[in-house]
Amino acid sequence: MIRYGGLAVLIAGLVIVVLLPVATSFVESWSRRDVDLRSQLVFNAARSQIEDAWARGDAAALEALFGRIATDARIAAIGLCEDGTLTLATGGMPADFGCDAAPADGAAGPRPVTLNGETALVTAHLLSAPGEGDARLVVLHDLAFIEERAGQTRMALILALVGVGFGGAALASGLSILVLSRWRHSVRQAIEDVREGRTEDDAPSDTQIGEEIRSALGELELARRQIDTVHTIWNPDTLQVALANELPGSEVIVVSNREPYIHNRKDDGTIQVQRPASGLVSALEPVTRACGGTWIAHGSGSADREAVDEHDRVGVPPAKPSYTLRRLWLSDEEQDGYYYGFSNEGLWPLCHIAFVRPIFRESDWRLYRSVNERFAEAVVAEAKRPDPIVLIQDYHLALAPRMIRDRLPNATIITFWHIPWPNSETFGICPWKEEIIDGLLGSSILGFHTQFHCNNFLDTVDRFMESRIDRESDSISLGGHETFVRPYPISIDWPPAALEGQPPVPETRATVRERLGLAPDIRLGVGIERFDYTKGILDRMRGVDAFLEAFPDWKGRFCFAQVAAPTRAKLASYRNLQAEAEELAAQINARHGSDGWEPIKLLARHHEPDEVFELFRASDLCIVSSLHDGMNLVAKEFVAARDDEQGVLVLSAFAGASRELSEALIVNPYDADEMGRVIQRALTMDSAEQRERMKVMREQVEARNVYRWAGQMLLDAARLRKKERIMRLIEAKERRNGRPNERRRKPAA
Ligand code: G6P
Repeated sequence: MIRYGGLAVLIAGLVIVVLLPVATSFVESWSRRDVDLRSQLVFNAARSQIEDAWARGDAAALEALFGRIATDARIAAIGLCEDGTLTLATGGMPADFGCDAAPADGAAGPRPVTLNGETALVTAHLLSAPGEGDARLVVLHDLAFIEERAGQTRMALILALVGVGFGGAALASGLSILVLSRWRHSVRQAIEDVREGRTEDDAPSDTQIGEEIRSALGELELARRQIDTVHTIWNPDTLQVALANELPGSEVIVVSNREPYIHNRKDDGTIQVQRPASGLVSALEPVTRACGGTWIAHGSGSADREAVDEHDRVGVPPAKPSYTLRRLWLSDEEQDGYYYGFSNEGLWPLCHIAFVRPIFRESDWRLYRSVNERFAEAVVAEAKRPDPIVLIQDYHLALAPRMIRDRLPNATIITFWHIPWPNSETFGICPWKEEIIDGLLGSSILGFHTQFHCNNFLDTVDRFMESRIDRESDSISLGGHETFVRPYPISIDWPPAALEGQPPVPETRATVRERLGLAPDIRLGVGIERFDYTKGILDRMRGVDAFLEAFPDWKGRFCFAQVAAPTRAKLASYRNLQAEAEELAAQINARHGSDGWEPIKLLARHHEPDEVFELFRASDLCIVSSLHDGMNLVAKEFVAARDDEQGVLVLSAFAGASRELSEALIVNPYDADEMGRVIQRALTMDSAEQRERMKVMREQVEARNVYRWAGQMLLDAARLRKKERIMRLIEAKERRNGRPNERRRKPAA
């Protein structure tokens, strides 16, 4: 027994003698890798701030940044080597440190140096664009922890060997894992500290790494891969991750005429919050909820002023605020000239070509310009940084991009034109075409729904402006500034919020038929929009008329419910349309109706999103017969509402949506007889075909949802920003070296 015991002690001794040096060298090389990783992570976290401060030559900012990084317990000192000379360093940098002791860059790994008689590890990171930098950030690492860690590991080994069999060994492994885990935690903490500017005083004292860092980095990597490669799974989370990864720390400001929430005082004195009938708002609201930031818009509600604070701001959505709505007040005169006049009597009919003559008045133009100035000033007032991301929306604000660019030259301005852009000949009608184009070319990126509208815009610029157009990259350079013109097909939230809590389709069908006073088995068609002459409301009624003429068997068995929210009613063209629609509905009802049955029900009032979805779910078909439409989100909402995969979409060939939803029954709204035949086809389509078509359209809308729309614009903006930053760094360097590069490349989005 004693012999065996002696043998065991001998074996244990031999194992210790052999293993300890191996373990020590392993711990040392492991620690070096950690130093390298830690240094790289710390550098990545603070890189943009350091490079910006360095490019500006802002020594005070650099010093403050360095000081913050050096509070990390594992970092002994930080310094800046410019052209081989140490130009800035934190207090802990030994006096005998020379830049030649540092490695060439981060890729070279840490290098051991002897300073003041002690060994330290130095890592270095090149500043500025790859291949351009002659400045390095050097990091001197405190190595005391390696000794400490080696000691801990040795102790764990000895414990393992003198412990009882496998139990002891397991304990030692446990200890090693614990050491590893706490160390990794410390790196993660260090990165967060640097990012958030925390000092050592308020940092947790026990800093060791954990498994979480690997999984956190893994998650980040996964999210990045999802965004970069798949580009199909877009939702609020991936949009947020895209924003955080690609545009870290950036500020988002949305600008539109129409506000996302309107506070109105009702007749009974209470305040009601209304969601306006606006495709722009339906699309942008969920996106802004995901991104946060500020949305600047005209406060048009009767109780809007009561809802805001002293800075005209209110948190929205009212139930759970996630962004700030900043309201801008317009006088009646401003609204008449800017909104009703130039925007809706001039640009709206001009761009839609719906055979309503555009009206241009000089007085409207002046107010349009001055209100655009007011929006631009509000953006500047709300911006907390010199380089916000400004998302300007629609034809009301064509001049604002240039005005904002003049005031905030480093802003990234993405302008989205929600309506069609006509051919150059048509646009030439506008007396202020050059000013409008110039205003839009203040944008960094100008978006339209379709490539066709982008082409029309490029042709218009080509025809009326002295500029350089690059057809390969679809960009326009004017006065040294470049604007990229891109198609971004807009869409809706997926799954749409209004679908939540909707009863099953059979139940909804029964409820809606009862509410409309229809027999339970009557087939129902719907049309839902604003009372706008571009939507083809009269044309679809004529289609219903033609349908009943051609297929009289359907009399008494089909009803078409037209919901139309009154809009821009101050304008004669809109008032006339409503009157005409009422008259036409009455004529058709008189011609075909009998025994209390009427083929057309006109519901001329605003419907909130959940009512709209209820109607969609109750119907057999939906008609979208726009005479011209940038996209048309009603078509996409109908598809989104039909989670039962039933129902038929009848869609105008002149709506941008017809490019994406080709499984709809596509019609020419100007041809009433054709529309009549298509209604018949829709009502007789069997359930399997409906399902086939609806399924494909639902997949399309799900994948190409509004988060993808916003995500793609923001990713393009991020690419542009990165390239612009590199250009600025190169310029700053050239200025310092006194040799500006004449052949400088332009950034390409
Ligand atoms: C269209 C425009 C939007 C506008 C919406 C409602 O969709 O592109 O900018 O908000 O119509 O019109 P309104 O004049 O009521 O804002």
